[in-house]
Amino acid sequence: MNKKTGLFITLEGGEGSGKTTQGNQLVHRLKEMGYPVVWTKEPGGTDIGRSLREVVMSNRHKDMVPETELLIYMADRTQHVKSKILPALRDGKIVISDRYHDSSVAYQHFARGVPMTTLNFLFRELAGGLIPNITFVLDMAPETAIRRIKKRGITDPASLSKFEEEALPFHRKVRHGFLKIAELEPERVKVIPADRPREEVFQQISRHLSALLPSNGENSHESF
Ligand code: TMP
Repeated sequence: MNKKTGLFITLEGGEGSGKTTQGNQLVHRLKEMGYPVVWTKEPGGTDIGRSLREVVMSNRHKDMVPETELLIYMADRTQHVKSKILPALRDGKIVISDRYHDSSVAYQHFARGVPMTTLNFLFRELAGGLIPNITFVLDMAPETAIRRIKKRGITDPASLSKFEEEALPFHRKVRHGFLKIAELEPERVKVIPADRPREEVFQQISRHLSALLPSNGENSHESF
């Protein structure tokens, strides 16, 4: 990271894998260390994205075909990258996104079967093809993740997104997708076992990240 290019970090994984908790902790720690941080997510990192999120995740739209789903995520991503991520990176900020393009690869390609050529074309031509500096895949068996989601105390099925209601084989394909991405891009994508205590998961993320952090945070002599 330097003043001109910033640092782009993404958190990926299936539902219930703890991305949001880890992201919050990371943002808190980096801010404490003096770094300028933008914490964002997909879908829904912009105003337009929040409206798109409602449409794509609503359990009223279970009949949405995979291509429509992909186009909505890509619309969200395009708006997100152009109006929020790139300007922040140009300002030299650290941008951390809870999900990004690897989610489209895992969900729309590996789980729903949309061809990679279609994803690659849209990502490159519309969304700018921006590649994160580092990506953490919080990996967990879907059985464990589903147990976690249920523990959150959601008992009303209408409050579950259509993805949370998907059956186990779907979540297995998503997990396989993320692991495959990591296998193909080991430099960028780090798999973190997420069924460990929260602090242990955070330490693993921090270890990978320290190597990338510049020494321009106000208190950057501190480590994680
Ligand atoms: P979350 O924000 O609670 O993690 O939920 C987002 C859901 O959207 C999750 O089920 C994964 C799904 N998703 C895709 O299918 N494709 C994508 O490109 C993205 C960003 C998310």
